[in-house]
Amino acid sequence: MIKVGVLGAKGRMGSLVSQTVQSAADLELAAEVDVGDSRDALRGCDVVVDFTSPVAVMDNVQWCVRSGLNMVIGTSGFDGARLAEANDLLDGSTQEVPQAEAVKPRVLVVPNFSVGAVLMMKFAEQAARFFESAEIVELHHAAKVDAPSGTAARTAAMIAAARSAAGAGPAPDATATQLEGARGAVVDGVHVH
Ligand SMILES: NC(=O)c1ccc[n+]([C@@H]2O[C@H](COP(=O)([O-])OP(=O)(O)OC[C@H]3O[C@@H](n4cnc5c(N)ncnc54)[C@H](O)[C@@H]3O)[C@@H](O)[C@H]2O)c1
Repeated sequence: MIKVGVLGAKGRMGSLVSQTVQSAADLELAAEVDVGDSRDALRGCDVVVDFTSPVAVMDNVQWCVRSGLNMVIGTSGFDGARLAEANDLLDGSTQEVPQAEAVKPRVLVVPNFSVGAVLMMKFAEQAARFFESAEIVELHHAAKVDAPSGTAARTAAMIAAARSAAGAGPAPDATATQLEGARGAVVDGVHVH
């Protein structure tokens, strides 16, 4: 049985993860942690799933990596700087965790768990080099706290990398006047609306 801990267990996604883990034959729900709970309950888990908030997640990464705990992170907000920070923590984890080879933790950042979304990102990456211009349009519920979404930001990064690898230059943009934001945010040179 794989022991799973959930960070953000009372949230929309965290509670779904808890339910899903409970209904899986090979997984055990070992700990549920939300605001106000001690993270010590997570010690001994094989993996910790984080669905908290972009504000809270880096502190959780730091704590889990230093505690030798593997993580699967669904929380959004992982730009290049955050991924680099997580990598640095993992690189440094050998100094803080004894018997490092045995317990060196791993962190998997998953901007979107939906198969449809993962395929969409892959197809966008494949298509990017065939077009002069590529932009992203996304739509979410009113309670979403981060914009652009982690999915859109990751898709933009994948499009930009594919275009760069193919030697494509920046997309043309004839905008002469605009209200601020009307052309969207720009992630790695890709407009996200
Ligand atoms: N990767 C994906 O497929 C995917 C899908 C949906 C949402 N998300 C992202 O997951 C995150 C959570 O989304 P949600 O809709 O479940 O939000 P939510 O607000 O319903 O739940 C977040 C939960 O985390 C808790 N929390 C906040 N800080 C915490 C901390 N320091 N320690 C422990 N618990 C803490 C909150 O109390 C809350 O219960 C967001 O960043 C969202 O964008 C990712």
